[in-house]
Amino acid sequence: MNEGAFPPTARRFESVGFSEIVKVRNRVMELLAAGQKVWRFEGGEPWMDSPEPVKAAMGDALSRNQTRYAPSSGIPELRRTILEKVRTRNGIPCDDEAPVVVNGGMQGLFAAFSTLLDPGDEVLLFSPYWTPIVDLIGYHKAQAVLVPTAAARRQGLASALAEKTTPRTKLIYWNSPNNPTGDVFSRAETEAVAEFARERGLAVISDEAYEDLVYEGEPVVAIGSLPGMSERTITCYTLSKSYSMTGWRLGYVVAPARYQKAIKTVVLYTTNGVSTPTQWAGVEALTRGTEFVAEWRAGYRSRRDRLVAGLKSAGFEIEPPRAALYLFPRTPSWLPSDSRAAARVLLDEAKIATVPGIVFGPEGEGHLRFSFSVSEDMIAGGAEALAAFASATSGR
Ligand SMILES: Cc1ncc(COP(=O)(O)O)c(C=O)c1O
Repeated sequence: MNEGAFPPTARRFESVGFSEIVKVRNRVMELLAAGQKVWRFEGGEPWMDSPEPVKAAMGDALSRNQTRYAPSSGIPELRRTILEKVRTRNGIPCDDEAPVVVNGGMQGLFAAFSTLLDPGDEVLLFSPYWTPIVDLIGYHKAQAVLVPTAAARRQGLASALAEKTTPRTKLIYWNSPNNPTGDVFSRAETEAVAEFARERGLAVISDEAYEDLVYEGEPVVAIGSLPGMSERTITCYTLSKSYSMTGWRLGYVVAPARYQKAIKTVVLYTTNGVSTPTQWAGVEALTRGTEFVAEWRAGYRSRRDRLVAGLKSAGFEIEPPRAALYLFPRTPSWLPSDSRAAARVLLDEAKIATVPGIVFGPEGEGHLRFSFSVSEDMIAGGAEALAAFASATSGR
């Protein structure tokens, strides 16, 4: 008899965190519940509602009783639509079996890392990085090896990667446009990393969640579209940002033949596919292509520019990023340089919610992340509150 004993949680969880951004959100909820006004810049989603035709397509699927089990890798109509999109828009040469429908970008990334990682493997990733990636790597008992982005861009990406490559290196995680910085790697940089991956026999997991949210300059180059790359690249897409569908949980992965079975197996045994009516909505969204985001782009740009102006007048140094939803400035002199302390002061004293840069890796320390994908009123009110707090604090 050993009734008082319980098995511990599996050891893989020892190296997995649970979103620090959730901690910020919980504190915001406490303040809101106490009746406080909070200027909210901590989020990461499009500000507008999901498109009406996409909602109608889901309603139509329900009325056609498209509510039964579907193939776990996706309904054929959606997989065909994805195939057409990635071949023509992204230029990725993939076979008919390449697309797998997943529950948002997150499940696609989970499946991609599960497909490739054994315990002890090393993953190269540029830092700052999107926080959950290091946890996904930790879950698989592999090692994240950080390559500081700014220094690597000065040095040359391939040479910076080479310095961190060991016999245990298995893959590169590539995220362009980047969360949190909004940077987009150039074609030349993407080609250099592709060449490095080919030379060293590495795989690439390319996270293109923000592919459509580019406001100026050249569009994103899908690394899987470069010569010899589709064979070694798993590309993860999501409808969350491109179609303002964060809560629908819909995304897709395209993978070369050698990795398809593993990806499909992960999806089969985790969720057994995406809800069938949601997939029909996805057919409508992807068939319309970039129609919606083209309408929204001006709104994003003006929000970005207004928030940049607001931060500048409060003493932040910041240039408008080319892409994604975020500003990632250094903390100005009137705030603590420790990013957790700075975010806490802003939230507790000025009721302005941001994300501390340290959660995006050591290269994010000394920065704060502000989302500009919020209402115009939030930007106006938040900028005013920030300026007032800055002048009160600088004068202390
Ligand atoms: C870089 C990046 N990749 C992937 C995702 C996943 O998106 P979702 O799971 O909402 O589709 C996000 C969401 O914020 C992201 O920022």
